[in-house]
Amino acid sequence: MFLQMALLTVLVPGGDSDDDYQEPISLRTILTTSFCNRSWTQNQGSAWLDELQTRGWDSKTGAFIFLWPWSRGNFSNEELMEQEKSFHTFFTRFPLVFQDHASQWQLEYPFQVQLAGGCDSHFGEASTGFMQIAYQGPDLVSFQNTSWWPSPKGGRRAQQVCKLFNQYHVVNLRIQANINDMCPHFLLGLLEAGKADLQRQMRPEAWLSTGPSPGSGHLLLVCHVSGFYPKPVWVTWMRGDQEHQGTRRGDVLPHADGTWYLQTSLDVEAREAADLSCLVRHSSLEGQDMVFYWEQHRPVDLVFLVVSVPLVLLAGLASWLWKRQKSHKTPQCTGLPLE
Ligand SMILES: *[C@@H]1O[C@H](CO)[C@@H](O)[C@H](O)[C@H]1NC(C)=O
Repeated sequence: MFLQMALLTVLVPGGDSDDDYQEPISLRTILTTSFCNRSWTQNQGSAWLDELQTRGWDSKTGAFIFLWPWSRGNFSNEELMEQEKSFHTFFTRFPLVFQDHASQWQLEYPFQVQLAGGCDSHFGEASTGFMQIAYQGPDLVSFQNTSWWPSPKGGRRAQQVCKLFNQYHVVNLRIQANINDMCPHFLLGLLEAGKADLQRQMRPEAWLSTGPSPGSGHLLLVCHVSGFYPKPVWVTWMRGDQEHQGTRRGDVLPHADGTWYLQTSLDVEAREAADLSCLVRHSSLEGQDMVFYWEQHRPVDLVFLVVSVPLVLLAGLASWLWKRQKSHKTPQCTGLPLE
């Protein structure tokens, strides 16, 4: 929690530094190849700015699919076409290596290989690039300087893969140029072009509810926070002005529009729920925390009772009086001439 608060303090835009990206942002290209059998593979390529997809890839034509108006960054059409061509070549040749060595490397069909490469930007400075290959999930080998290194848990297979890949000097020099020169250049251009979307501030909406009862006499209080951007957010249950230690934070989940959702729950004894509140801190709130009190949420039922019980009683009384009046009236009316 302290770490999150510290992080948030850093992320909350302050004064003159509004224009800078305050956190490391990575640009990564991912190629996922599914090997179904000896003759059938399927490729999926995409590019991501942290958790935001900027580009897709049509595996048949090799064309990039730009998902945002700024996805082309500051690259000219010629540069992008050049990139497209080299990606297509690389993306179609790379899986063949695995197919050709399936039995030597003891790869068992069906299996999946993922290649991820890119670079980071930190405080407007691009740092060194990275590239990794994973087999069936865990990392297998990674690229450093101009050569491939086995991952600690990659075993014999990882060593065999490195041995082969380290023979492709020309390819490795191109990879190095790609992740250390071209990628940072493209990333900085992308951050500049996409500024309006990437630095937008979306205020969260929040509400309270109860979750499935955790046991008799207990309540599961849930604080929902939805529609915020950027992702860092701090949500906690408070008793008075103390952070409640029992706060359980869920995963921050994506909405289709690129904003985020988080729910944070607390298991408490029903009679101890009274002075609890949910506190939401987010950069879009500009230092004004949102606070939601359980008491004010909970008493909705109470207010309903307080208002409705007397209403019901009143209605009962009214109809009783009405009947009584009627029954009194009726005799009175007899004998009066009808008009
Ligand atoms: C390979 O897998 C594909 C997709 O599952 C299937 O359609 C095809 O018949 C398979 N080919 C062989 C030779 O098993």
